[in-house]
Amino acid sequence: MKNKTILIVGGAGFIGSHVNKMLNKAGYQTIVLDNLSNGNRSTVQNGEFIHGEMSDKTILDQIFQKNKIDAVMHFAAYIDVGESVLNPVKYYFNNVVNTLNLLTTMIDHHVKTFIFSSTAAIFGNPQTQFIDENHPMNPINPYGESKLMVEKILQSFDNAYGLKFTALRYFNAAGGDPEGKIKNFQTRSTNLIPIILKGLKSENGILTINGIDYPTSDGTCIRDYIHIEDLGSAHIQAMEKLFEGSHSDFFNLGNGIGFSIYDVIQAAESVTQKKVKFQKGPRRPGDPPFLVANSSKAIQKLGWKPKFSSLETIITDAWKAIE
Ligand SMILES: NC(=O)c1ccc[n+]([C@@H]2O[C@H](COP(=O)([O-])OP(=O)(O)OC[C@H]3O[C@@H](n4cnc5c(N)ncnc54)[C@H](O)[C@@H]3O)[C@@H](O)[C@H]2O)c1
Repeated sequence: MKNKTILIVGGAGFIGSHVNKMLNKAGYQTIVLDNLSNGNRSTVQNGEFIHGEMSDKTILDQIFQKNKIDAVMHFAAYIDVGESVLNPVKYYFNNVVNTLNLLTTMIDHHVKTFIFSSTAAIFGNPQTQFIDENHPMNPINPYGESKLMVEKILQSFDNAYGLKFTALRYFNAAGGDPEGKIKNFQTRSTNLIPIILKGLKSENGILTINGIDYPTSDGTCIRDYIHIEDLGSAHIQAMEKLFEGSHSDFFNLGNGIGFSIYDVIQAAESVTQKKVKFQKGPRRPGDPPFLVANSSKAIQKLGWKPKFSSLETIITDAWKAIE
């Protein structure tokens, strides 16, 4: 037992529930706060669960008063890029205003170690193939803007109040619990792998491939899929570095390997032994041909390395998690 307690906000969601499990395995105590707007109670299999809102200052005050919280990991957000364009108010309120409420309450209670789920969406249209931390930040939707705003708030909180934070900018989070115990209940997932696997499970899904004439090896878009187990280990390593006295920082987290849509289809067929039905559709506006992380900084500074980088492993674990 490490004798440290971590508050996981949004810990009943896809990534947070997994990190909760990994933290407990590593000997931490955890408290999960989630309003279950997109999470599921059954995914919280370790630690204490509190059904509540991060906008609710009373609940947050109670948590920080009752418990000695050593660090906060913050996964709670709305995550649908398309919806954020249609309903930006919803995104700025939850992802920015409510996060500000969480951060302010932390400072009130002198809790100053924070791990933030940021995203590759802060970069906008890629200007290089492999995206490192120096890539210009020009988000092209309110979801990406909301995350970049929080990154800026974090810097101001470090300057003013001494908050120590790590912002982890994930590329496409994928995979599932390798033990198959935590299921993936997200109904809103717009990510390629769950769409394909849910279609195979229901036997009647037809995938639309948006664009088959991109300047890539097979004409379809290439993306970076990172296993949630690898995201989890980055969170724990980043938090432990902050405990050891590291300064606040930003890291891009990806597999570093690009897979095309046809690669994903082939791997899904080989893992499930089922045929993926698909149709070819037009390109979607704003979809770049190639979007892959350069995670050298995380590899060097956090001592982190993606271990679950094969597409077969990612899809095998995602298949176990499909409900
Ligand atoms: N999934 C990805 O590919 C990806 C990529 C980059 C960044 N991220 C970021 O990682 C984080 C986790 O993503 P995920 O895929 O696990 O999403 P998710 O929707 O599965 O998890 C988010 C959780 O937060 C909870 N939540 C939302 N608003 C809340 C509020 N106001 N109070 C309490 N709980 C609230 C939801 O119920 C849900 O359980 C998000 O911040 C997301 O922006 C995800």
